[in-house]
Amino acid sequence: MSSHSLSPRPEVHGFFDPATNTISYVVRDPASDACAVIDSVMDIDYAAGRITYDHADEIIAFITARGWRLDWLIETHVHADHLSAAPYIQAKLGGRIGIGEKITEVQETFGKIFNEGTEFQRDGSQFDALFKDGDTYAIGGLTARAIHTPGHTPACMTHVIGDAAFVGDTLFMPDGGSARADFPGGDAGELYDSIQKVLALPDETRLFMCHDYGPNGRDIAWETTVAEEKAHNIHVGQGRTREEFIRFRTERDASLAMPKLIIPSLQVNMRAGEIPTDASGRPMLKVPVNGL
Ligand SMILES: [Fe+2]
Repeated sequence: MSSHSLSPRPEVHGFFDPATNTISYVVRDPASDACAVIDSVMDIDYAAGRITYDHADEIIAFITARGWRLDWLIETHVHADHLSAAPYIQAKLGGRIGIGEKITEVQETFGKIFNEGTEFQRDGSQFDALFKDGDTYAIGGLTARAIHTPGHTPACMTHVIGDAAFVGDTLFMPDGGSARADFPGGDAGELYDSIQKVLALPDETRLFMCHDYGPNGRDIAWETTVAEEKAHNIHVGQGRTREEFIRFRTERDASLAMPKLIIPSLQVNMRAGEIPTDASGRPMLKVPVNGL
């Protein structure tokens, strides 16, 4: 085997959700047929309070048709713009749900904002695995490594699997730049430092985005490389300094509206994708008035 190759090379399939501009991934170990699902999406019509599973069903059908075994359901972070379908997929295909250990900070913050009672645990116990910086886990014969990349949220992690890295919202495509850093617990300086960790991976590393909005009318895209980001990223490329980034990011974030689905997303995703229930056990979402 060539000393230049970043072996092994996992097979990566992206599934774009046009309602939320999220890309979910199936990552497969070609040697064992084991796979992982990264950042799945549950469909919601928020105005109607209706939840459906078309996007998740497409992924389930894709894995089932190929006879692959699902080992992991990974959340790169607690998303504020879509709901996770991890428990729904887990119920059909098995696998363990994993997220960064700093989920406990996110649960603390939003437990208060949503005035959750004591039955809402803030210890991350809703998840099957909590990753620390540098932790590894297996997808069949592949070794995946979780790198703590906070800034967008405190619990954000980048997952490096062979020559591929799933960056969550740490980076966007080069012409999209970077994600906002103004949610509770977010920090533009930390985001800059986290982006540097991703850019320190080998130049040929394949980078997979969690979101794409097709800036300036280009087609939706979700795969790039470390070399491309270093050379062309409009927010951090070409050696933009930490100070410049913080100034730019802070100004930009002050002009952004809240994501349309932030209120249902946080309540569901801080529970590992479970829909909260009221005292009688019925699925129910809250709206904290002037709380965000
Ligand atoms: Fe996000």
